[in-house]
Amino acid sequence: MEKDWYKRMAFYQIWIRSFYDGNGDGIGDLYGVYEKLPYIKSLGVDGIWFSPLYPSPNADYGYDISDYKNIHPDYGDLEQFQKVLDKAHSLGLKVIMDLVVNHTSDEHPWFLESKKSRDNPYSDYYIWRDGKNGKLPNNWDSLFEGKAWEYCPERDQYYLHIFAKKQPDLNWQNPALRDEIYRMMSWWLNKGIDGFRMDVISLISKPDPIPRDTGSDLSPYCINGPQVHTYLKEMREKVLAKYDIMTVGECPGITVQEAQKYAGTDSGELNMVFQFEHTSLTDGKYGKWSADRTDLVKLKEVLNRWQNGLRETSWNCLFWGNHDQPRAVSKFGCDLPEYRVLSAKMLCACLYLMQGTPYIYQGEEIGMPNPHFTSLEQYRDIESICAYHDFVDSGVVEKRMMLTLLAHTSRDNARTPMQWNSRFCAGFSSAPPWISLGYSWRAVNVEQEEKDENSVLHFYRDILAFRKGNPLIRYGTFELLCADDPHIFAYVRTYQGKRLLVICNFSEKSQNAAAIYPNPEAIRFHNYPSITPAVLRPFELIAAL
Ligand code: GLC
Ligand code: CA
Repeated sequence: MEKDWYKRMAFYQIWIRSFYDGNGDGIGDLYGVYEKLPYIKSLGVDGIWFSPLYPSPNADYGYDISDYKNIHPDYGDLEQFQKVLDKAHSLGLKVIMDLVVNHTSDEHPWFLESKKSRDNPYSDYYIWRDGKNGKLPNNWDSLFEGKAWEYCPERDQYYLHIFAKKQPDLNWQNPALRDEIYRMMSWWLNKGIDGFRMDVISLISKPDPIPRDTGSDLSPYCINGPQVHTYLKEMREKVLAKYDIMTVGECPGITVQEAQKYAGTDSGELNMVFQFEHTSLTDGKYGKWSADRTDLVKLKEVLNRWQNGLRETSWNCLFWGNHDQPRAVSKFGCDLPEYRVLSAKMLCACLYLMQGTPYIYQGEEIGMPNPHFTSLEQYRDIESICAYHDFVDSGVVEKRMMLTLLAHTSRDNARTPMQWNSRFCAGFSSAPPWISLGYSWRAVNVEQEEKDENSVLHFYRDILAFRKGNPLIRYGTFELLCADDPHIFAYVRTYQGKRLLVICNFSEKSQNAAAIYPNPEAIRFHNYPSITPAVLRPFELIAAL
């Protein structure tokens, strides 16, 4: 196998709590995953990325870890994990784990020790600072919950938390902490896992001293901090280089140039990075909380820049959604009954015929839409609930309006139970689920789509099968066509005399595409039963060889 095997792969992301409940308590788990491995394999993916499975008080559903070397009792135990890992391997699926090392839970034993005093072995595991004239060390806002500093009376100091209060940031400047993390990583790798997805890895290095007079935005100081590349090179040398594994870093807020530093072919750091430019094009007045549609011209500009920017020098991650994003079909397509299937297929072909490694988020392959929650009580996500209170309690946004914004943007849109069939609880569990089902489960579910050969599910299988081992998809050039067209996304891939033309109508209206329409006989993928030469119907997709 070539050394860059990850370039041939497609991943399936599992956010376990909502995937499949194997023991009937309303919570997805590793017993459920074990049963569904053949289904995952049947999609034509080559690996699984598990969002955190570790013990966690669930302030941020697993991204607040209280024990790095164990499995959350809700999800099973280490023995069950090993069974899942072995079976996945026997099916030819790789398994990568989430590595969340920017912060831990405040219930992690390291933090419980650290907060006791200024001089114990763990005192320096976190980022502690004195207040400034009886006030916070500086004016940074956390990304989730109030200010980024929390007071601790035992030490008479503040700790930094970029995310929730229950997620204190680790102090990467401390070599003892780094070694401890490297040992933990090796421990997992020795169990046979195939790599890591590294949570907010671009945030691990903070400036020292921490500036006192700042605005409220911590990103200019904490994203791509001063030592981040030194730490990642050290991590490669001490851990990663010793195994035949792959790594993908989550890097909010990075540019193409920075991505090359993290994951350039010769950077000696990671294999690829998740960037979020294409999912953040609606950010505006209320930050990410916007119900606006993504502007297609901008979307094309961004994806074109990443496709061509990383072509020779690094490798792209292809994704529309994950556990932090609303459902792809609702955000970039249209989830009305007449357009859901059409637009979900169009999105699939549009992105996964590009160069890079696809990451398909559970439920995306059946075109699951947002659940359209209507009351605050339905939400479980700390980020959404805090945002609601920030905006509504301060009078900036009126209640109804905020619920509309959340229904478009909340992370819980992606976190409702996977829809397996149209029986009790969508076949997810035999007990009431920990979070409400989405409204669509009777019509949109795996069982239904297995039976229907025109379903989104079968289309995903076709596209993934076509990609497999296809050098045109892996190495072909990417040329954007009609960059300024506000409705049509079209591009050409070329490799050794072979050519693939992809044309997508992102709008609900028919568009004239006479100038680029291919010979109908060359059409390989299509989401309508018939062809209307030169015209693209709503959300029509054509891919021609
Ligand atoms: C990442 C995770 C997200 C989490 C945050 C803090 O962005 O994907 O779910 O809340 O990091 O760990
Ligand atoms: Ca369970």
